[in-house]
Amino acid sequence: MRQDIKISVLIERDRIMKRVSELAERITKDYQGLDFVMVGVLKGSFLFLSDLCRMIPHAMSVDFLGLSSYGAGTESTGVVKITSDLTIPIADRHVLIVEDIVDTGLTLNYLIENLSTRMPKSIRICTLLYKPSNIIKPVPLDYVGFEIENKFVVGYGLDLAEKHRNLSYIGYIEPEAVK
Ligand code: PRP
Repeated sequence: MRQDIKISVLIERDRIMKRVSELAERITKDYQGLDFVMVGVLKGSFLFLSDLCRMIPHAMSVDFLGLSSYGAGTESTGVVKITSDLTIPIADRHVLIVEDIVDTGLTLNYLIENLSTRMPKSIRICTLLYKPSNIIKPVPLDYVGFEIENKFVVGYGLDLAEKHRNLSYIGYIEPEAVK
């Protein structure tokens, strides 16, 4: 893979932050008075979750779950692996899953099935990005930041072979560059 690949801007930092605050406002209303756990799916959601949770004034718990389906490639293998589990119980609590992107939907379908066996009061999903054109298994999305075209996106938590997660914006890479 080339080291000097060109990354074009898809969603600028200001637009991301505006949208995150809109989502936070809705979540704040919906979870008023409820005991809830925000579950970030690592690694991609780490920046989105950290911005989102700071804009929600309620007392909440935050935990993370490591899942991986892409490895170092750019296409889902369809095989989802838990690389690290939650550290707190979610039984009888409301769970809000926070994802950076829903692409094929395979990861979230696996996760919902897995977390449901732990008897939470409810499970809702908040994703920053959603690529409807790639869905293989539909998934109920409660909060969506942006619907995007089928582009390979990096930045604001998303990677290409573990690089570019630190970009403050969301960029895209031309397909030739990721092969
Ligand atoms: C990405 C992303 C989602 C998943 C979505 O994770 O963070 O968890 O893929 O894809 P899907 O809808 O096709 O299942 P990835 O496996 O790349 O791990 P990462 O978050 O550590 O980058």
